[in-house]
Amino acid sequence: MSCPRISTGSPGLDDLIGGGLEKKLITELVGGPGTGKSTLATLAAVSCLKCGNGVVFIDTEGFSIERFRQIAGEESYDLAGRLFLFEPADFISQGVMIGSAEKVLKENDVGLIILDSATGLYRAELERGREAIQQLTRQMVHLLGLARRYDLACLITNQVYHDPAHNRLVGLGGTALAHIAKVILQIDRVGDCRRATVIKHLCLPEGGFYDFRIVREGIASCEGENEPARSEDS
Ligand SMILES: Nc1ncnc2c1ncn2[C@@H]1O[C@H](COP(=O)(O)OP(=O)(O)O)[C@@H](O)[C@H]1O
Ligand SMILES: [Mg+2]
Repeated sequence: MSCPRISTGSPGLDDLIGGGLEKKLITELVGGPGTGKSTLATLAAVSCLKCGNGVVFIDTEGFSIERFRQIAGEESYDLAGRLFLFEPADFISQGVMIGSAEKVLKENDVGLIILDSATGLYRAELERGREAIQQLTRQMVHLLGLARRYDLACLITNQVYHDPAHNRLVGLGGTALAHIAKVILQIDRVGDCRRATVIKHLCLPEGGFYDFRIVREGIASCEGENEPARSEDS
């Protein structure tokens, strides 16, 4: 039986986005370096692998086998057998590998396709302006097509840049990426924790958040840790 959603591997995060990663659409994690995007991507991959499905993982940053082992635990060796890893070295190869992934999808029962990160290699192409953004848009449309045709969840991560006009961090890829992704979570550092905030969702209000800490096994809830301290006698 096909399940409409794939668990992120975190019950708190699943609740935040309405029960997990929805199939046939793109979910995007956007955040600065070290906020936990790759951890969340690996956690979702492991969760899907543990359910018995395959995972296509397109990694542009250098896949950490050690981090996969930490999150997958004792089963890591067996689970890795259903992990189809692609490691493009440049933006053109990223597009080619999204295309090549289709062969894996045809021959295996894959539940999730991950692109971590969608914009790391694109960043090096920014001087090509319009042409580069069109190429990125085509890659995302291709991914979305795969998610729809093969009934998959699709998780992408997106890096941020500083927008001096508004003095804030903004996801790369402009509105093209923001339109194509139907669920967007922004990840920020909040004290010792990280906060995932819903900034776009098809059927849930924006602004909901979940606080977590990055741990060896993936993430753990930070519930209550960021609330203002109450004085002893109040
Ligand atoms: N085993 C671990 N235990 C606790 N924290 C870890 C562990 N491995 C990595 N981290 C932390 O995870 C963070 C990096 O997360 P990552 O998911 O790679 O971020 P991003 O992909 O957003 O750059 C760093 O702060 C690092 O210290
Ligand atoms: Mg990363």
